[in-house]
Amino acid sequence: MASHILVAALTFLALASLVLASDPSPVQDFCVGIDDPNRAVFVNGRFCKDPALATGDDFYLSGLHRPGNTSNLQGSVVTPANVVQIPGLNTLGISMVRIDFRPFGLNPPHTHPRATEILVVLEGTLYVGFVTSSSGNRLITKVLTQGDVFVFPEGLIHFQYNNASTTAAALAGMSSQNSGVIMVPSTIFGANPSISDEILRHAFQADQSVIDILRAPYRPAATAARTDDL
Ligand SMILES: *[C@@H]1O[C@H](CO)[C@@H](O)[C@H](O)[C@H]1NC(C)=O
Ligand SMILES: *[C@@H]1O[C@H](CO)[C@@H](O)[C@H](O)[C@H]1NC(C)=O
Repeated sequence: MASHILVAALTFLALASLVLASDPSPVQDFCVGIDDPNRAVFVNGRFCKDPALATGDDFYLSGLHRPGNTSNLQGSVVTPANVVQIPGLNTLGISMVRIDFRPFGLNPPHTHPRATEILVVLEGTLYVGFVTSSSGNRLITKVLTQGDVFVFPEGLIHFQYNNASTTAAALAGMSSQNSGVIMVPSTIFGANPSISDEILRHAFQADQSVIDILRAPYRPAATAARTDDL
């Protein structure tokens, strides 16, 4: 009997470690990601540059002191500093973003499928929040000002809203070399090809007129102005 419990406990632990697994732990100092198929070692979807040829530039990005352009429908913009911009981040399980907000700008509800986010406010005020998963869907919020730090747990839908008449800016660390982002509004209402009207009417228990309104920002004429799908 006790051995059954032990086996069950070990199985649970093994599964738990699988479930908790995120970016794999590197087994070398680094693997500067390059797109050179002649290199034999391939980690996290990229080939490793010969470590002897790595330079400071492989681990470097400049310009994050500059605000991004917030002239878009949502009034916010994310400037990434992930493995795409910094190839030396490959396999290291970490990256960052800068987020700028114009007055009353919003970073719409979204989720990062591969990362917990830890955000620090550089300037301004942000009303931030996340919603717990389906067991309760509890909304957890906080009003942040300069120097305040807030955590958005991995995978949970969250938002940041500058509900003030001044600009705001934040930096955020992400526990992945490339956290990914799923914007709730554009993913649901701007999918390409579209999710059918019938499915959206059923899912949201809404009339077609409501679905038409929610789809409107993602019609081809409107999409040119959107930049929230970074
Ligand atoms: C910001 O983006 C808008 C819209 O794309 C563009 O018209 C404007 O020139 C940009 N401003 C700067 C400073 O790049
Ligand atoms: C922003 O919104 C939150 C939540 O509604 C509120 O507590 C806070 O006072 C607001 N801040 C400003 C500057 O309006």
